[in-house]
Formats: sequence, structure tokens, C-alpha cells
Amino acid sequence: MADNRIELLDSDITTLTVEAIVNAANNSLLGGGGVDGAIHRAAGSELLTECRSLRGCATGQAKITGGYQLLAKHVIHTVGPIWKGGRDNEAEFLASCYKRCFELAVENKIKTMAFPAISTGIYGFPKQEAAAIAIREARAALTANPELEKIIMVCFNHETRQAYETALKYNVR
Ligand code: APR
Repeated sequence: MADNRIELLDSDITTLTVEAIVNAANNSLLGGGGVDGAIHRAAGSELLTECRSLRGCATGQAKITGGYQLLAKHVIHTVGPIWKGGRDNEAEFLASCYKRCFELAVENKIKTMAFPAISTGIYGFPKQEAAAIAIREARAALTANPELEKIIMVCFNHETRQAYETALKYNVR
């Protein structure tokens, strides 16, 4: 069962010793507030230097860099959709973020990774719907890739934790 390889953790993602942490970035990849700001502060200026060379990232896509002064060896930067009410393919773009992050992890032989709740902060995506998408995509990735050992969904607030706990209760067939 994939769920025993999914872990919910109340933590600051920059403190985790997983092989890769995922950053909820913006299209410029040049840093920002929220978790993006925390990751750039913790990784140091070399992260921004490498990000500059990547020339941005489209919404729903992901790009990988080194982790520099972070404990994690890699940062996978993904750009989630800005919530506009749900009629602008936001759910599909968010699912694409998770899919692309898992593809990059498998391509780079990464076995342990941690996600923030992408798009649910500044970008305003409803937490429960976002958690359901995250858990659905994580289950699919874990089933398809036995070499993926652990996926941590980081909960930076109580509402996010509740949303993931609810999402895990439903076994979407
Ligand atoms: N560790 C883990 N999670 C965190 C941390 C942290 N240090 N800081 C914030 N979070 C959580 C937020 O509480 C939220 O649950 O990450 C989730 C995503 O929120 P945001 O960081 O606001 O990201 P998002 O909603 O995807 O908006 C992206 O914000 O920071 C800018 O440059 C970024 O423009 C982009 C936008």
C-alpha cells in the first residue's frame, strides 16, 4: 500500500534531511515570499545564481537544482496555479506540478522527498481540494515507482494538516 510511504509532518521544510525538498516557486524562479523565501534564505545565494540560469518555469512544470546550504541535496522548484475560482484548469495545473516533481525525482534517483502544500498559501488554492490532488498524485507515483521510499507532505499550519488527514481517509479508486 502506497500510504505507508506517505508521511505528514508539522515542520519547516528547510530543516528536513530528505534528498529533495520541493519549492512552491513563481514563474521567474527568482525567489519570493512564503516557502520560496524560506528555501532561498536557507540555501544561500548560490541557489539564486543557479535559478537565474534556468530562465524561469511555466506553471505546472518543475525544474531541479542543487540544495547548497540546505540539508537536502536537491531543490525541485515547481510553479503552482494561482486560484481564480476553479474554472481556469487550476486543478489540472496543480496535478501537473506533482506529476512533474515525481518525474524529476525518479529521473534523478531521488528516493525521499518533501512537499509544501503547493499553491495553498499566497496563491489561494483551497486546502482540501489541493490536499486531495496531492495525495492522489503521491499514491499514483508510489504505486508506479517502488524505488520511491518516502514522500513527506509538510504541514505548516493546522488547516493544512487537517486537509491531508481528511484526504488520506479517502481511498480514491
Ligand atoms: N516550510 C514548509 N511550508 C511552508 C513554509 C516553510 N518554511 N513557509 C510557508 N509554508 C507553507 C504555507 O503555509 C503554505 O501551506 O507552504 C504552503 C505554500 O504557501 P506559499 O509559500 O505561499 O506558496 P504558494 O501558495 O504556492 O504561492 C507561491 O508565493 O512565495 C511566493 O514566490 C512564491 O510567488 C510565489 C507564491
